[in-house]
Amino acid sequence: KNLSIIGVPMDLGQSRRGVDMGPSAIRYAGVTERLENLMYHITDLGDVPVSRPDSKDHVQEGNLRNLKQVSESNRLLAEMVDEEIRKNRFPLVLGGDHSIAIGTLAGTAKHYENLGVIWYDAHGDLNSGETSPSGNIHGMPLAVSLGIGHEKLTHILDYAPKVNTENIVIIGARSLDPGEKELIKEKGVTVYSMHEVDRIGMSQVMAEAIDYLKKRTDGVHLSLDLDGLDPEEAPGVGTPVMGGLSYRESHLAMEMLSEADLLTSAEFVEVNPILDDQNKTATLTVGLLGSLFGEKLK
Ligand code: ARG
Ligand code: MN
Ligand code: MN
Ligand code: MN
Repeated sequence: KNLSIIGVPMDLGQSRRGVDMGPSAIRYAGVTERLENLMYHITDLGDVPVSRPDSKDHVQEGNLRNLKQVSESNRLLAEMVDEEIRKNRFPLVLGGDHSIAIGTLAGTAKHYENLGVIWYDAHGDLNSGETSPSGNIHGMPLAVSLGIGHEKLTHILDYAPKVNTENIVIIGARSLDPGEKELIKEKGVTVYSMHEVDRIGMSQVMAEAIDYLKKRTDGVHLSLDLDGLDPEEAPGVGTPVMGGLSYRESHLAMEMLSEADLLTSAEFVEVNPILDDQNKTATLTVGLLGSLFGEKLK
């Protein structure tokens, strides 16, 4: 199997420095070697260019911090992802803040009639400029993929929406803003919050999610925000929320996805080595990727 790694050193979708070093930290933790051992043919395509904000662009247009730069890098990312899928290679995108899901999904969704998305995250990332408390675009990518938000974000590669509401499953949510809750209710997005994970267990959550998506989609993208995990296990993230998914639950989730052979693209985002403890979060990321791509105990 062919797999292409694309790094996106993006930190302009939020306000804390250092998440632009996420791709380096994950490479340093040995992602290529780990996946090569699983008999994947890996091509590391390097990093998508991200331009620096100048003081003028820092001024927020419609409560959207660094809109121009975020939009431009996401267009470049979308084109790369599109090309890799065309060449029949599995795109694995490494972030960078979660705003890069806008580009990954733009490049991916055009290849499927009905792309499914698993959003593994403490947050819903369902804000728009109107509802965002922060103006940070990393809190908006899932809304953008539904066609909600600024045109410079929703219309990357000139089509919208990228994803249908019914094809989204959020797992691990425990911090949702009022506007996000409203949208979830209005659109009927499937959410397995920490409440459901505690109630029925990760095994049941994943079994249901996989069964649901298998029936109704022709491809599934995994967007995994490391802040979905508990900050004890993943301290190197910019917006930690206590009470998160455990190391063990997360490995189980990856193993079940591997077994289901469901995924057609994936991204791992929000690794910030500056806020981390000895590259623990990038190391965890590489371990999760190992499970996702087929490592087994027996
Ligand atoms: N909901 C908050 C906001 O809109 C936090 C978003 C965090 N997103 C993330 N990808 N870590 O600013
Ligand atoms: Mn489509
Ligand atoms: Mn998050
Ligand atoms: Mn996120």
